[in-house]
Amino acid sequence: MPSFQPLVFSGVQPTGNLHLGNYLGAIRRFVALQDSHDCIYCVVDLHSITAQLVHDDLAGQTRAITAAFLAAGIDPEKHIVFNQSRVMQHAELAWIFNCVARIGWMNRMTQFKDKAGKDRENASLGLLAYPSLMAADILVYRATHVPVGEDQKQHLELTRDIATKFNNDFSDRIGQLGAGVDMTVGDERVNGFFPLTEPLIEGTATRVMSLRDGMKKMSKSDPSDLSRINLTDDADTIAKKIKKAKTDPEPLPSELEGLEARPEADNLVGIYAGLSDRSRESVIAEFGGQQFSVFKPALAELAVEKLAPIASEMRRIMADPAYVDAVLRNGGERAAVRAEATMKTVREIIGFVGD
Ligand code: TYM
Repeated sequence: MPSFQPLVFSGVQPTGNLHLGNYLGAIRRFVALQDSHDCIYCVVDLHSITAQLVHDDLAGQTRAITAAFLAAGIDPEKHIVFNQSRVMQHAELAWIFNCVARIGWMNRMTQFKDKAGKDRENASLGLLAYPSLMAADILVYRATHVPVGEDQKQHLELTRDIATKFNNDFSDRIGQLGAGVDMTVGDERVNGFFPLTEPLIEGTATRVMSLRDGMKKMSKSDPSDLSRINLTDDADTIAKKIKKAKTDPEPLPSELEGLEARPEADNLVGIYAGLSDRSRESVIAEFGGQQFSVFKPALAELAVEKLAPIASEMRRIMADPAYVDAVLRNGGERAAVRAEATMKTVREIIGFVGD
């Protein structure tokens, strides 16, 4: 029996500056997966209008994220890099998923609650339906693996719920059309049209925290620029932000357990481990017992060494917007062929009359 071909899909919103959390939690993982998987990486511009409709420079932001993908080492020829809005099948499948998903599921999403704030009635309908579009992004390619940071876990669980409900509700039609694929879910063998996608939340930096508050996620929307390291920050800015990062007065512990009640110290150790591709244990083995006055300069040096080449490559790529646009156009054309193949069957499964 055939089963789903492994396929990696992930997306990044073109809103605000890319930061170290995006890089360590997502983009660096995207790069690593290219050797073992077929990958599709998307700049999700349709998502960026859910929280804020009008943007000063959405096109520029879209090109900047694309440049970051390429500068980090994503190969747009072997794999696919494109912006979401040019492949209309994402929006088409999202509409169908709006009719599969239940309002209660959407209301439970913590990201919706955070972004909508107190005045939920005034949030856009798109913000509520955001996870339907995210499920569509993934499932329009019937992708099996999705590398993301920890904050996207709940959305990926919802993606599985949507796939399961679609597979169940249309099981007869899927069977009649022979469109199902066998897959293993837990101990069971089941058949369905959409795979139950696996989140890949891996590495030592799946949740990079703010440099100003170890209990808050590092985020593009934090009003304090000191809270994050942007991928485009220069060496002096990176060093200054790390120097100013909140810490406690104790030296670093010599055992990992000693970080448990010290969120800021834990975060800096996690960042060091992420940037150097080492475990937290090995970072603690090297720096345990040292003061932050020793650890912070070492971290700043490492961050500059890893990020500066990406920033300069990003600038080089962005200086040629025609090249970036050509990458997105070419990626979009290849993505659309795959997305249309899925949608043709989806339309048949549902019973829409077409050609
Ligand atoms: P976005 O644009 O907010 O973030 C892009 C990626 O960066 C990860 N990330 C982090 N990882 C570690 N620490 C942090 N502080 C941190 N902040 C962000 C995110 O988890 C994400 O992987 N909804 C998604 C975009 C999206 C998507 C998709 C992702 C749309 N469709 C389909 C995967 C598959 C988002 O807003 O990511």
